[in-house]
Amino acid sequence: MNVLVIGSGGREHALVWKLNQSSKVKQIYAIPGNAGMQGLAECVPGDIHDFDFLLSFAKEKNIELTVVGPEAPLVDGIVDAFNEQGFAVFGPSKAGAQLEGSKIFSKEVMKKYHVPTADFEVFTDLDKAKAYVVNADYPLVIKADGLCAGKGVFVLSSAEESVKVLDEIFKNKIFGDAGQKVLIEECLTGPEISILGLTDGERVIPLASSQDHKRALDGDLGPNTGGMGAYSPYPFVLEKDIQSLVEKTMKPVVQGLKEEGIPFKGLLYGGLMLTEQGPKVLEFNVRFGDPEAQSVLFRLKNDLLDVLMASAKGDLSKTQLEWDHRASMTVVLAAGGYPGEYKKGIPISGLKEADNENVTVFHAGTAMNDAGEVVTSGGRVLGVTALGETLLDARENAYEAIKAISFEGMQFRTDIGYQILKTVS
Ligand code: AMP
Ligand code: GLY
Repeated sequence: MNVLVIGSGGREHALVWKLNQSSKVKQIYAIPGNAGMQGLAECVPGDIHDFDFLLSFAKEKNIELTVVGPEAPLVDGIVDAFNEQGFAVFGPSKAGAQLEGSKIFSKEVMKKYHVPTADFEVFTDLDKAKAYVVNADYPLVIKADGLCAGKGVFVLSSAEESVKVLDEIFKNKIFGDAGQKVLIEECLTGPEISILGLTDGERVIPLASSQDHKRALDGDLGPNTGGMGAYSPYPFVLEKDIQSLVEKTMKPVVQGLKEEGIPFKGLLYGGLMLTEQGPKVLEFNVRFGDPEAQSVLFRLKNDLLDVLMASAKGDLSKTQLEWDHRASMTVVLAAGGYPGEYKKGIPISGLKEADNENVTVFHAGTAMNDAGEVVTSGGRVLGVTALGETLLDARENAYEAIKAISFEGMQFRTDIGYQILKTVS
């Protein structure tokens, strides 16, 4: 079978790597892909928002399954465009993808189906929003409504800061149209976990649990990023409890949307906070997390093609996921300056030396230069992913492998898993 993977990050490299292990897969194409996929997939340059191009590619290459990595094409309706032409795609419809495309839509859906989440108010008017924040209790959270590349969430400790943020969003339009509506919500506290639910529009099967590390610096300091590292499983939530979390959070949403005529197939990612009042949903995403996917797919024993195809065809009744008992950890190596400005085109050394039976280096922002060298081409450059008997072993394996890799300006967190490891070690 020929498979097309859309995207170019570490998540997509992990998807390609895992699909490549399936005996049913004949050829994988990646648009646009990255340097790490060489040998696993044919990488084809192209615009992932140009659905006419993607569809004609799928026709020409006889693609039987398309797997969409990032959220933007899903929110733009790639699944509807492909399905209309009879192509199977892993991912939700445009209407379903609004769960990530509009934070307000997502919160309204949660409220409607009684999913535990932070209390919230919606504002479309700057003066009304300002009046609200001046009288509010602190801390509180302001979120721009649309897709903001992970930058649209502000946790604020005073009215003064809140007013500044509202001015930036409404007056200076830092998020363009995405900022013309905001959510102001209660600030929750507690550990965060990522639950990725595989769905066929009716059933929701949780993948192994994981935890991301969103801040740039050790100790959860510095600015928010796309994710600097992850591990799986999160040891303090048992498998049976994850099932019950899914029953309370994702299933009501998938089934509620189905009744409204909105099919949600693919991957529903729940960012949950384990608060003292119980688990609450911080956000839904409509695709695999990055770098959670690298850690989670590393432990999956099933044939990924079967799993994704069953979801795309709308029937997960026979799917049972099996997991490696070992723990996994992904440590992201980022370009100097990320998540701010950073240089590109810097040669990377030690990639082959870092790979071993327990370690795979998933590429994210990498490219091949004219001299055939692997060079940096993005903010998050690599995700070194390791297995170990325990989380501590996985961490040792990951950090040992990192010693082999270098590029000018390389930065990474040295404490992935610290909250858990300080409790268990
Ligand atoms: P989101 O993109 O909605 O996941 O938000 C990004 C990050 O902001 C989350 O991972 C949390 O750390 C934080 N965050 C979002 N909403 C809240 C909230 N209501 N209370 C506390 N922190 C939050
Ligand atoms: N790692 C967080 C995300 O993928 O949204």
